[in-house]
Amino acid sequence: MTEKKIPKDGLRTAMDDLKRVFRVSVPEANRIIYDFHREMVRGLSCKKSSLRMLPAYVDRPTGGEKGKFIALDLGGTNLRALEFELKGFGRSGKPKIMKFTLSKEEMDADSSRFFDFIAKSLKLFLKKEKIRDASALGFTFSFPVRQSGIKTGILVCWTKGFNVKGVIGRDVVGLLTKALIRNRIRGIDITALVNDTVGTLAAKAYSDRNCDVGIILGTGTNACYIEPVNNIIKIKSYGRYSSSNMVVNVEWGNFNKLKRTVFDDILDKDSANPAEQILEKMVSGMYLGELARIVLLHFNERGLLFSPTSRKILSKKGIFKTDHMSGIEGDSLYGLKTIDRLLNSLGIIGSTLSDRTAVKNICSIISERASRITAACTAAIITRMDPDLSRMHTIAIDGTLYEKHPNFSKNMRQCLIELLKGRASRVRISLAKDASGKGAAIIAAVAMKGAWRGAKICKTTES
Ligand code: BGC
Repeated sequence: MTEKKIPKDGLRTAMDDLKRVFRVSVPEANRIIYDFHREMVRGLSCKKSSLRMLPAYVDRPTGGEKGKFIALDLGGTNLRALEFELKGFGRSGKPKIMKFTLSKEEMDADSSRFFDFIAKSLKLFLKKEKIRDASALGFTFSFPVRQSGIKTGILVCWTKGFNVKGVIGRDVVGLLTKALIRNRIRGIDITALVNDTVGTLAAKAYSDRNCDVGIILGTGTNACYIEPVNNIIKIKSYGRYSSSNMVVNVEWGNFNKLKRTVFDDILDKDSANPAEQILEKMVSGMYLGELARIVLLHFNERGLLFSPTSRKILSKKGIFKTDHMSGIEGDSLYGLKTIDRLLNSLGIIGSTLSDRTAVKNICSIISERASRITAACTAAIITRMDPDLSRMHTIAIDGTLYEKHPNFSKNMRQCLIELLKGRASRVRISLAKDASGKGAAIIAAVAMKGAWRGAKICKTTES
């Protein structure tokens, strides 16, 4: 087989162009911070904004919460049922956990089938762990929900490829409660409805008083933080609340004041939710691999990468995953052998070293942009809370992208240093693995203490 000849300059110029359009320079990141601040203010006051700024009706835990609590944690394609014992002083026992996987059918099902799946999973867990006493349950539901109290909230829209019919515009706690009744599950009080970012923040804040930001960087992406209640102008109509601060779910995945490339536009147009979740499509694990595939295909079509026979493979939507990018960017073997193996597994045979180097560069360019956008938005949140960074801030982050990608965390930290300079040392980033379920249990405990006055306990009984 003869090796194809690619004009070196052609590839180099194309790569330089790609770097240029994907670059998030410091001035660009500062512009993001400026726009993010504006959108935060607008979102808090009910003006039109790409940031939904959803009040969570809960403050940080004190660390003194005690008791046994159950949590249901619905994130991406996994559902987890957990039981936690909170021991006070920020300590907790080893959780009991059971994992369930949602099929594509469940993600596209109708509301009753979807919530029945959740209820049935909970039933199995309660049976396995022999949990018979009445229990308070925290429900982590990782989608944009407009709450009007700690245990009630209406789904605004689906994200991350979910499309369960008949849920948008309805109270998800009500729908789960009905499913519990249908499935004859007794003695469960759903005392808290929690976004996964809020759960992550709560789990970390239980033992760390400096924690005031929770971030998810996984299939989807989002952040929450602590805001003085007086600034949440739109909350006035929602009723009384007993604390002076409240966690706000930013829903940053929908932020749209970002410089986009033609590749982003292609991805968006072909997605299940065009024009929505713009930041999420540039940052999160569900989309980065697909973005890389679109760029690889473009390079291939221009004759700069792989042989033309690879085009059919590269044209398959979804074939290239964010996990692949992690493997590719982490390859430091002589001859980039891991990349070769990975390409072979996708059916791309006979790549040259120049091909593999280009693939690695393309993946790095895309993931570096993602980490720098994340850093800019994180800096925006911190400087909204504390413009001079006069105190320490712990940021709790969960999600496989942050945890597993070889460069994401490093690049994010580097950009934070460029933006915050010496003050970056006041920002501590802490990986909070699988924290959202634990956080929901903690918030169930906070809610039991009546953090939101007027919240009713939702008791399910056998029908
Ligand atoms: C959802 C958020 C969620 C994030 C991380 C996004 O798609 O809109 O509510 O926190 O994913 O799971």
